[in-house]
Amino acid sequence: MTFRILSKRQLAYKKTLFEVEAPDVAAKALPGQFLIVIAREGGERVPLTICEYDRQKGTVSFAFHEVGKTTKELGTLNEGDRLFNVTGPLGNPSNISRFGRVLCVGGSIMIAPILLQAKALKAEGNHVTTVLGCRGDEFLFMKEEASAVSDEVHVASDDGTAGTKGLDFLEELVSSERFDRCVVMGPVDMMKRVSEITRPYGIPTFVTLTPIMIDGMGMCGVCRVTVGGKMMFGCVDGPEFDGHQTNFDELIMRQRTMLPEERLSSILWETNGGCKCERK
Ligand SMILES: Cc1cc2nc3c(=O)[nH]c(=O)nc-3n(C[C@H](O)[C@H](O)[C@H](O)COP(=O)(O)OP(=O)(O)OC[C@H]3O[C@@H](n4cnc5c(N)ncnc54)[C@H](O)[C@@H]3O)c2cc1C
Ligand code: FES
Repeated sequence: MTFRILSKRQLAYKKTLFEVEAPDVAAKALPGQFLIVIAREGGERVPLTICEYDRQKGTVSFAFHEVGKTTKELGTLNEGDRLFNVTGPLGNPSNISRFGRVLCVGGSIMIAPILLQAKALKAEGNHVTTVLGCRGDEFLFMKEEASAVSDEVHVASDDGTAGTKGLDFLEELVSSERFDRCVVMGPVDMMKRVSEITRPYGIPTFVTLTPIMIDGMGMCGVCRVTVGGKMMFGCVDGPEFDGHQTNFDELIMRQRTMLPEERLSSILWETNGGCKCERK
C-alpha cells in the first residue's frame, strides 16, 4: 500500500506542507503525535509531526523543512505522487485540557504543528496566545491560520524583519500576563530558551523533543533523551516532555552524532542522485 499526496503547499523557502491520503492514520491521529514517513522503497525513515487530520476525508498533513537528503528528496515529490509508507500515529498525544491561559510557541517549520495544538486548546475553552518564530519575514507563514485559532498572535524573527527581533519580548509577556501552561515546538535552542524564560515564573512548559529516531516504536534506543535525570525514549515516552527537566545540551550533542555522514549523503544526493548503492 502506498500513500497518495493530495496537495502540496509551499509554506516558505524549502518548507512544504503535504496532505496525504492515509485513512487508518487519520482515524486515530491526535495533536502532538508524529508519523514516520518513507518517501520511496528503500528510503530513510523520517519522523514528522502531524499538523492536521481529517477523519472524514481520511487525510493527514505534515510539514517538513528540507535540511538533509531525505527531506530534500521529499521536496521533489508533487501532488498525485505516492509515498512508500506513512506509519502512525506514533508517540503520545499532547494533553489537551482546560488549563486557562495557554502560551503556544512555534518556531521555523514547527509553526505548522503548533497550530494544531493551539486549535485544540482553544476548542477546549482556553485563552490561547500564539507566538510564531522565524528567521525573517520571508520565512513567516500561516499567520492567518494562527489568528483563526488564537486569541492573540505575536511574531518574532531572528533579524527583526517580521514582528519583534529575538525572543526577549517573551520575558516581558510572561512577566506581565498570567499563563497556566506553555507548549513549545521548534529548534532545540529555541525550546531551551523559552523553557529558561518560563522557569522563574513557574509556568509548566512542554517541549516536543526531536532526537534522531529509527523505528519510532521503542525498540532501537536511538532516541534516548534525559529528562529529570532519567533516561527516556523520545518516541514512546514523548515526544512531549517537561521543558524545565530536559537536558537540551545532551540532545543537541546527540543530534550531531551523524553530522559528517548526513552532510556527505546530502551532497551525494544533490550531485549524483544519491549513493551508488541506492541507484537502480
Ligand atoms: C518526533 C519528531 C518530530 C519531528 N517533526 C518534524 C516536523 O514536523 N517537520 C520537520 O521538518 N522536521 C521534523 N522533525 C525532524 C526531522 O525528522 C528531521 O529533520 C529529518 O529526519 C531530517 O532528515 P534528512 O535526511 O533530511 O536530514 P539528515 O541528513 O538526517 O540531517 C540533516 C541535518 O538535520 C539535523 N537533524 C537530523 N535529524 C534531526 C532531527 N530528528 N531533529 C532535528 N534535526 C535533525 C542534523 O543535525 C543535520 O544537521 C521531527 C523529528 C522528530 C524526532
Ligand atoms: S526511535 Fe527507536 S526507540 Fe525510539
